[in-house]
Amino acid sequence: MSKAKRYLVTSALPYANGPLHIGHLAGAYLPADIYVRTLRLLGEDVVYVCGSDEHGAAITIRAKMDGVSPQDVVDKYDKLIKETFEKVGVSFDIYHRTSSHLHHETAQEFFRDLYQKGEFIEQRSEQYYDESAQQFLADRYITGTCPKCQHEEAYGDQCENCGSTLSPTELINPKSKMSGETPVLKETTHWYLPLDKYEEWLRPWIEEGVLNGEKLHDPYQWKSHVLGQCKSWIDGGLQPRAMTRDLTWGVDVPQEINGSEGKKLYVWLDAPIGYISATKQWAKDNGKDWKPYWQDKNTDLIHFIGKDNIVFHCVIFPVILKANGNYILPKNVPANQFLNLEGRKISTSKNWAIWVHEYVEDFKDDPKMIDVLRYYMIKIMPENKDSEFTWKGFQEANNSELVGTFANYINRVVVLTNKYYNGIIPTINQGLEITCSEDENETSSFQAEMNAVAKHAQNIKKFIYQFDFRSALRELMSIADLGNKLLQNNAPWSLIKTDEEKTKVVMNTAAQVVAALSIAVQPFLPKTSNRLRDLLNLPHVVDGDLEKLLNDLSKHEFLIQEGHQINKPTHLFSNLSDDWVAEQVQKLEDSQAEAGIQYEAIKETATFDDFQKMDFRTGVILEAEKIKKAKKLLKLTVDLGFEQRTIVSGIAEFYQAEEIIGKEVVVVANLAPRKLRGVESQGMILMAENDKGELVFVSPQSGFGGGFVVR
Ligand code: 2FM
Ligand code: ZN
Repeated sequence: MSKAKRYLVTSALPYANGPLHIGHLAGAYLPADIYVRTLRLLGEDVVYVCGSDEHGAAITIRAKMDGVSPQDVVDKYDKLIKETFEKVGVSFDIYHRTSSHLHHETAQEFFRDLYQKGEFIEQRSEQYYDESAQQFLADRYITGTCPKCQHEEAYGDQCENCGSTLSPTELINPKSKMSGETPVLKETTHWYLPLDKYEEWLRPWIEEGVLNGEKLHDPYQWKSHVLGQCKSWIDGGLQPRAMTRDLTWGVDVPQEINGSEGKKLYVWLDAPIGYISATKQWAKDNGKDWKPYWQDKNTDLIHFIGKDNIVFHCVIFPVILKANGNYILPKNVPANQFLNLEGRKISTSKNWAIWVHEYVEDFKDDPKMIDVLRYYMIKIMPENKDSEFTWKGFQEANNSELVGTFANYINRVVVLTNKYYNGIIPTINQGLEITCSEDENETSSFQAEMNAVAKHAQNIKKFIYQFDFRSALRELMSIADLGNKLLQNNAPWSLIKTDEEKTKVVMNTAAQVVAALSIAVQPFLPKTSNRLRDLLNLPHVVDGDLEKLLNDLSKHEFLIQEGHQINKPTHLFSNLSDDWVAEQVQKLEDSQAEAGIQYEAIKETATFDDFQKMDFRTGVILEAEKIKKAKKLLKLTVDLGFEQRTIVSGIAEFYQAEEIIGKEVVVVANLAPRKLRGVESQGMILMAENDKGELVFVSPQSGFGGGFVVR
């Protein structure tokens, strides 16, 4: 196999069960696209794969809700998602589908191989079965109360409220999503991957980057929240995980395997293998060999995902790859955190989201709006912590940075070059001194300014290799800043009256800065790069151009030649008004209102005796403090009159500790104590949740004090 370094970059395969929202884009697609575009511009060998994830309960639940077949669902959304990605400029080398024959074949081969190597353990177990629907229930088909945080809509595999990974039998009060009924446990046989068996290599590989004595990655280059999640998974004790399911939709367990009938591959086995089948299809389409991209040590495999997918990409898929034996493991998994919207969590069911296909449609007559969206999303990318999208922030980023700094600079250079030189880049004497862009009291030169641009361009490269896209974007804007200051400090509009030769140096240098921007901006804002190249009357950027730029800058070569004719000025970006912002916010609120408030279904009837069992008391909060490292939890001391209780309550996101001292509350006083984050909670405070997911106290406001019975 060849020695040359290459990259295989993946973005999480989106479920083909609904459209994409901005949270998806910010999480797994935009960062990967910038990374890949940069690698291409550096002349690297890179393949960027993605595709629709078309199996699993996500699809069948949607089909059931819409009253159509799963095939209809995936056909519809695969098309919509693929088109949306194209429109926002996400530049996959291939967008594949897990429903394709090639994928089914590839996933089955993997399963067969692991089966034959004896990697699986066959286990009979009891799993939830819906008697009225006559089928076993996938984890996502079961909801119930989370045993860890009491959230009542936890799924069988995960609680989205506290982030815990669960198994369906841990849920309190499980309900089938198919029929709403309580499922029963029934015996079934499945093939399990004993994750615990792999801990010996998994832990040092993740924590130190070492596998079989070889250093494969530097854990310091992994994001700390990614490492943290992996460690807590491993520390929590790895368990065998079923790799098959009793389902009707998915990849069949290979027929020749005894007992395969009615069994499908677990979607989290099948989906990541989708990265491999996509690469195979790409290779087929392009006359290439897919194997080096997955099997050669000189390949860096990078998975871009959202934080909810960390364990699958850092633990389960690596175990599958290693068990096969022929595959490399990921070099890095730069997962992003979540993006919130106007102060609230993005929610598909509550229609609190900006849908990317709608945005694209709304602004289809204004192509620059795609890049405004990209710009703002990069600026606020949730790289290491959750972040916040607001239309006000969007407007500010556009008006002050894209219009005020970037477009304004370019416009000034283009206008002046047309005015003074009929749009022809002036020939210069490079030895002439000009005023420095950094300091108006210092002298500088063409070469010194090129060096300053080179530093920022090098930093862009450095930050992108570190998956720090926000810093890379700031470096890009620093180039425009530099250009603005160069004009400001040299004032060519005055200088031209006294020193034409010097003015030419200033204007030529300023044009070089614009040319540098036209290349460096490409990974971030590809459409802007094209428009800018058109304005400069230069060909669009191609692979290798960033490497060439770095080289040219270091040698002080012209990026745009003396005597070259540029075009007449056009506005690259324009201001967005306050009315425009208000319109967008209104649109968001209207579409949420249209979706209607989703009232929770009423629970099973409780008898009077059931009710009598519960002891509700009035209480007064005496003390409150945050529990360290628990975003949602407050530790309260509550006076029940006859005694004081410690109660842990999940309200920290809605109330500051200080503001609730003295508050009257209703306490469930005879609830069995339970430990939360090491603190024993001796009861529960009653809260009401509104349609925005905010919690408010159910407060007696009686002035009685604590201990009185609530009937
Ligand atoms: O969470 C999701 O949207 C999954 N469809 C991601 C799958 S990533 C990969 F493994 F395919
Ligand atoms: Zn929970």
